[in-house]
Parts: sequence; structure tokens; C-alpha cells
Amino acid sequence: MTTEIQATAAASGANATERFRENKKTAASSSQERVNLLASRVIKAINDTVLEEKVTYDEYNAFKAWLIQVGEDGEWPLFLDVWVEHSVEQVANENRAGTKGSIEGPYYVPNSPRLESPATLPMRENEQGTPLLLQGSITNLAGEPLPGATVEIWHADDEGFYSQFAPGLPEWNLRATVAADAEGRYMINTMQPAPYQIPTDGSCGRLIAAAGWHAWRPAHLHLKISAPGYQLITSQLYFKGDEHVGDDIASAVKPELILDPTPRTDNRGREVSYDFVLDPE
Ligand code: DHB
Ligand code: FE
Repeated sequence: MTTEIQATAAASGANATERFRENKKTAASSSQERVNLLASRVIKAINDTVLEEKVTYDEYNAFKAWLIQVGEDGEWPLFLDVWVEHSVEQVANENRAGTKGSIEGPYYVPNSPRLESPATLPMRENEQGTPLLLQGSITNLAGEPLPGATVEIWHADDEGFYSQFAPGLPEWNLRATVAADAEGRYMINTMQPAPYQIPTDGSCGRLIAAAGWHAWRPAHLHLKISAPGYQLITSQLYFKGDEHVGDDIASAVKPELILDPTPRTDNRGREVSYDFVLDPE
């Protein structure tokens, strides 16, 4: 089991770096003015910390060695998405009135298989865990249904592993793009994801251990909801009662995004409704 988890952690970091390069390669570069401003501020924040906390050469060298190791482990995507992305998301979505956003994280893969609602996510025949039915409507701010909407969903399995980032999982396990029906409603059958521990055997894990933090994210579903003429929202949904919903290492939980599923009447797992609201373009 330990070997399996370690293999997974190493593979996850390397895959996340590769994926990032593939997905974000069209990103526009910033102006000289902006680079000057932002780089100067980050460098100043580090220098202020050194001066105020009287950082020693030992500490400086430990920091330097750790930064080198983060690169060698391929863990920059993990580091940034856990400790920085939540603020970027807050700024990006602060003017929206619809469904709250949350971080994308390092494990999104575009172009997942397209399914019509009601849908069952691709999963193994013996997929472990509690079945979960997630359903609801997708509307605009006026409450009008958006029949052309889609719900992209991806999440970890019952052991906390993501397909295409952990070894041994089918390519699109627990990933799909679900098209809403003619009434703008969606219905998705999946398996309850497990709480997720960011890889502990790499440099991010070493930082967490050295600082006495924990590595947990609460169990979560990742989503991208979109419809023609509306702004795509990237978000996550969490589960009431989860031990880590109040202290997510990635600081990505919002109270509006916490589900409270109930047992299904047919006794097949749990079900919950969640209505998405999209802002116009
Ligand atoms: C990380 C992993 C996640 O599943 C997530 O949602 C956010 C961040 C990470 O390992 O960095
Ligand atoms: Fe995640």
C-alpha cells in the first residue's frame, strides 16, 4: 500500500506539470509594467520576511534547497494550486452574482467524454464507495433554465486518486462532460469521492511535515459549468460533516458550496440537489 501511494505521488507531480504545459500554453504574457510591479512586490515580500524574522544562512540555504527540489519533483503545479490559486480565483470571480467559484486544482483534463443527462460517469465495474446522485438545474440570474448547458465533472475515487494522474485507473474514470436536458436539468450518477491528501512524499509533503501542518483537502467534486452566452464557472462541491471542510489545506471551501446528501429512498447510496446559476457574458 505504501509503495502504491508513493508511486502515485511521484507520478501525480510529473503528470500535473506536463498537463499544465499542454492546457495553458496559449496564455497571454503580461506587460513590462505589470511584470515589474508584481515581481518587485513578491521579491520585496520575501526580503521583508528575511529582515523582520532575521532569517539565518542555514534557513536561507534550506529554502534554496527546497525550491530546487520542488522543481525536480515536478510539484510547482501542486504547490501553487494549494497555496496561491484560491486568491487568484477570488479576484477573478469577485464580480459574479451566480454560483460561487473555487479553484481548478492540478488535475483537470479537457475534452472528457460527452454524456447526455441522466448520466452515469465512466467507472470501473467494481468501483468502490457509496453511490452518489447529484442533480439539479442550470439557470441564468433570472432563474430561466439553460437547456444548452453542460456540466464538466471530475473527481477522485474512493481512495482519493484521480484518473490520468494516479497509475492503474481507466483513462476517463470519474470524468465526463454531461449535457443538460431540454429543461436545463442535469442528473449525474457517480461514487462519493474520498477526502484527498496532497502527495506527502514529495517536497510539498516535506514542507507540510516540517511546518507541522496537515495535507488534507475535504472530499470534493470538481466542476465546470457553461452554456452559450454565459460565463463558464469553475467550482467545487463539498460535503457537510467532512472532517476537513473547515480546514482545507487549499483554502478553497465556501459555505455556499457544501452539499448535505440524504440516503436514497431505494437505499442505493445518497442523493443531493444543487442548482447552478450562470452569469451572462
Ligand atoms: C491539489 C489537489 C486537488 O485535488 C485539488 O483539488 C487542489 C489541489 C494539489 O495537490 O495541489
Ligand atoms: Fe481535487
